[in-house]
Amino acid sequence: MMSPETLSFFAHIIEKETGIIYQDINLYQLKTRLEEIMKTEGFEKIEDLEKIFKSASLPLLLKRKFLDHATNNETLFFRDPTFFNALQNFVLTEILLENPKQIKIWSAASSTGQEAISTAIALDELSKKMTIPPFSIVATDISEKALAKAQAGIYSDFEISRGLSPERKANYFSKVEGGWKINPEISSKINYGYNNLINSAVYGPFHIILCRNVLIYHKVETKKIVLDSLFSQLDSDGAILMGVGETMLGLRDKVSTRVIGNVTFYKKQSLTDSKAS
Ligand SMILES: C[S@@+](CC[C@H](N)C(=O)[O-])C[C@H]1O[C@@H](n2cnc3c(N)ncnc32)[C@H](O)[C@@H]1O
Repeated sequence: MMSPETLSFFAHIIEKETGIIYQDINLYQLKTRLEEIMKTEGFEKIEDLEKIFKSASLPLLLKRKFLDHATNNETLFFRDPTFFNALQNFVLTEILLENPKQIKIWSAASSTGQEAISTAIALDELSKKMTIPPFSIVATDISEKALAKAQAGIYSDFEISRGLSPERKANYFSKVEGGWKINPEISSKINYGYNNLINSAVYGPFHIILCRNVLIYHKVETKKIVLDSLFSQLDSDGAILMGVGETMLGLRDKVSTRVIGNVTFYKKQSLTDSKAS
């Protein structure tokens, strides 16, 4: 049995460390996740786990594993397919005008890597139709488990079947034991690493920052802090992209937007912009 006080104790730690909120509607998920960590770490009683978290000698590894269990790593290849067409269009019509030596992209909550790989494939396909500068992708996440999988670059038949066409599978993946491995021509473009968006390291400036389907789990104040930090790492002509169902409306005043298809590109407001969007 987990008391409401115990659940709220752990929910508070998760929010403080990651920004992810567990409240009435999803507290049952937190309970399941706590049960998972008790099982994997060999705790019989939740009180024992609670005691360790209240002690001054909480092992960092246990804390990281605990926070890892609190994350939702759901992702798939070419999530919202029109998104990647819009991205290609934006690169062609805005980024290339800047004449960059290299196109720099950040997948800021990359989970198990499908978003970074889809982006790299989209740009690789573009580069086969026309000359574009080389590109590089920094892909970060708070979940060590997700990052380890992304770094291995091996996906099961089921994962491959989620969003990847047979042509792309044939062009960019090779059969290995345990699934399909992304080819080095794509994986060499992506650098994976740990980063917590609520006290983010600085990697920028970037032409494109993907912050998709992550802030849906955070409260408004946290979203604002994260967006401030992302904008500070954005190239003057670059754009931040959120998930298809997400918006910056009400979170930030000083943005200008460009809409391509059903995708909104959020840009820094230039001095010539007459009004905020
Ligand atoms: C639902 S997945 C979305 C993955 C991908 N962006 C997509 O749209 O398919 C959300 C990811 O955000 C990560 N995340 C949650 N809070 C985070 C934080 N504070 N800093 C960095 N990553 C975070 C989770 O670990 C998870 O992998």
